[in-house]
Amino acid sequence: MSALAEIPVLSVNQLSIAVDNDGTPVPITDDVSFTIGRGEVLALVGESGSGKSVTALALMQLLGAGLRIARGEIVFETHDGFRTDVVRLGAKGKAIEALRGARMGMIFQEPMSSFSPIHTIGAQIAEVVQVHEKVGRAAARARAAELLGKVGIPDPVGALDRYPTEFSGGMRQRAMIARALICKPSLLIADEPTTALDVTIQGQILQLLRSLKREFGMSILFITHDLGIVAQMADRVAIMYSGRIVESGPVRDIFRHPVHPYTRALLDAVPRLGDIDRGRRIQPIAGAMPNIFDAPSGCRFHPRCPVRDMPRCAEKLPPRAEVEKHFVECIHGERELAK
Ligand SMILES: Nc1ncnc2c1ncn2[C@@H]1O[C@H](COP(=O)(O)OP(=O)(O)OP(=O)(O)O)[C@@H](O)[C@H]1O
Ligand SMILES: [Mg+2]
Repeated sequence: MSALAEIPVLSVNQLSIAVDNDGTPVPITDDVSFTIGRGEVLALVGESGSGKSVTALALMQLLGAGLRIARGEIVFETHDGFRTDVVRLGAKGKAIEALRGARMGMIFQEPMSSFSPIHTIGAQIAEVVQVHEKVGRAAARARAAELLGKVGIPDPVGALDRYPTEFSGGMRQRAMIARALICKPSLLIADEPTTALDVTIQGQILQLLRSLKREFGMSILFITHDLGIVAQMADRVAIMYSGRIVESGPVRDIFRHPVHPYTRALLDAVPRLGDIDRGRRIQPIAGAMPNIFDAPSGCRFHPRCPVRDMPRCAEKLPPRAEVEKHFVECIHGERELAK
């Protein structure tokens, strides 16, 4: 890791997000803590429904109706001395609006819904600079064209006057990246930015994000369920299960020495070249992630865990074991990390 990564641009501390269920708050994520250093890429990984997108949305105070931050801190600090707790800023008002899209950029999971179909791509990208930097229309359009060119859109000046429906899925995704990057954010939140794309476009977008990261020196929170992408893109990885981060550490440590039974199961579920020749079968994870309204007591993975120790694992949350930057929440954690 570079020296730059030592000072976190983002420190999320004990973040809990709750959904309102007829007046009763039900936790969706619980006690989520992580940091992202400057110029660092943190991958957030986990099964569908584990709480990755709600965590990403909370970082920008973009949670939908019925969801709220119940507890925790989101400290965002940039190299120019700007420091704020996003939780205390609230979801409305000038301070949070100044942050969104400017200091923090976001690429959403659904590319189609992030552009309005009735305005041109150029207008929607230029608007971001006009709002945040008070530049004129012509200058904003020039910046938008420059960014569209950078993300590999052919004829970027002509593309300014086209509508989102005239773009292919891959082009819209690129346009969304251009819009997210136009104010040179310190942190980019990328929620499954390539999931909907075919593999060649996916490869191009990942390469693009890597080169833009180098150019702008930005940090990235990269959400994905693709462990191949994690290996290519991330410095560190946090594994989320049913709203909690159960293991986190440098990518190499986690891939070489996964400790949490869920992380091991995730890695075992990845097909590898040569598996067919060697007769190795991919091991699917038995069972399903619990419903948030009916989360198990103790370790939330215990009903599916092959190495559970009952009744201990069902009784209380496992302790958190940590060696250097690798931590894990499992009763076997301390012993396994020591290996
Ligand atoms: N607006 C909402 N109202 C109620 N529940 C919600 C809302 N948004 C998300 N949830 C619930 O919160 C949990 C986490 O959802 P989230 O979208 O964060 O999952 P995810 O990890 O991003 O999954 P995926 O990999 O499928 O994108 C799910 O159980 C989901 O049903
Ligand atoms: Mg999601």
